[in-house]
Amino acid sequence: MSVPRELKSNIYSVGAIDWDRRLFDELIPLPDGTSYNAYLVKGREKTALIDTVDPTMTEVLTKNLNQLEVKDINYVIANHAEQDHAGSLPQILDMYPNVKVVCTQKCKGMLMDLLLIPEGKFITVEDRETLSLGDKTLEFIHAPWVHWPETMLTYLREEKVLFTCDFLGSHLATSNLFVTDEATVYEAAKRYYAEIMMPFRATIKKNLEKIRDLEIDIIAPSHGLIYDRPEFILSAYRDWISDEVKNEVVIPYVSMHESTKKMVDYFVEALIQRGITVKQFNLSKTDIGKLAMALVDAATIVIASPTVLVGPHPSVVYAVYLANALRPKLKLASIIGSYGWGSRMVEQIKGMVPNLKVELLEPVVVKGFPKEEDFKALDRLADGILNKHKEYNIFKSEG
Ligand code: FEO
Repeated sequence: MSVPRELKSNIYSVGAIDWDRRLFDELIPLPDGTSYNAYLVKGREKTALIDTVDPTMTEVLTKNLNQLEVKDINYVIANHAEQDHAGSLPQILDMYPNVKVVCTQKCKGMLMDLLLIPEGKFITVEDRETLSLGDKTLEFIHAPWVHWPETMLTYLREEKVLFTCDFLGSHLATSNLFVTDEATVYEAAKRYYAEIMMPFRATIKKNLEKIRDLEIDIIAPSHGLIYDRPEFILSAYRDWISDEVKNEVVIPYVSMHESTKKMVDYFVEALIQRGITVKQFNLSKTDIGKLAMALVDAATIVIASPTVLVGPHPSVVYAVYLANALRPKLKLASIIGSYGWGSRMVEQIKGMVPNLKVELLEPVVVKGFPKEEDFKALDRLADGILNKHKEYNIFKSEG
């Protein structure tokens, strides 16, 4: 559901709020739902729709356009080809037979493949090309890899509104249009960055640089709330994409018969005693999005697993695969855990993380329940992490 609302003179929010969605791509948890924002920009001569909505919500978009009595749309700007934004294009093309789809060359190919949109419907735009709506000018800024290769941003020059589609967005279902509670939005935007954008950190850095000199009053993404204080989200992104890491250790773990759990408990206390922040995740219960968020800033990951059929536990395999795919800026890694009769867990986990540019600290993998010498080895590992964090100049004593 949603109703059309004017966010600035002749600029309307016409998208949909998805209160109930709890999973994206059948993978990413959405604890607070999401929204598919679309924007109608009415110029003196022409009208443009910026992005559409997920196909499950097409009726909301068409209802909103009817409610605003939109008789004609000249352009539908497709900033991104993924179906949660482009999926209602076929219905918009049916409703407004003269409409042209404006997008990058790469996006055109993808929309033809994904949504079978005929070639004659497209206008492709180059980086920084403009399109006049009469008294309003749309400028298109190519911003590839946020998070697909065809993506662009649309800047409404006169009103200083930047429409960013996925970029800078958040999965949040809320009836508000603009950010009112920055702490809540920070959390949701960080989760979104971690799950969607983090693998493209280097490219996002370039794209942020590209918009640095734009005068921006409003950032209007196609998920979540609109920012009328752009610096809030831009500075958060600058922090997340920076090369700086924090004095934090992330410990994803699973335990079957308490041996690994005992090691984790001991090790977490050892790190806390040394003044290091710890984020511990039981993989049989955790929200994988929370783990991804923790990886945005942490200097170190310590993977803790029992041995199953000589390898790591399958839940650990899943988490390690994701961590490798998300390419966090970790600097250190280690492995702790246990086995009953034999283990190749360390070699197998090492082989699964080619994307993580980390130094591996001596793993601690023990036979059976941990004993005194094993706890000493965990102490040595905690000391090693502390020393490295000091070397990186990120250790800050709380005392
Ligand atoms: Fe929100 Fe990449 O789609």
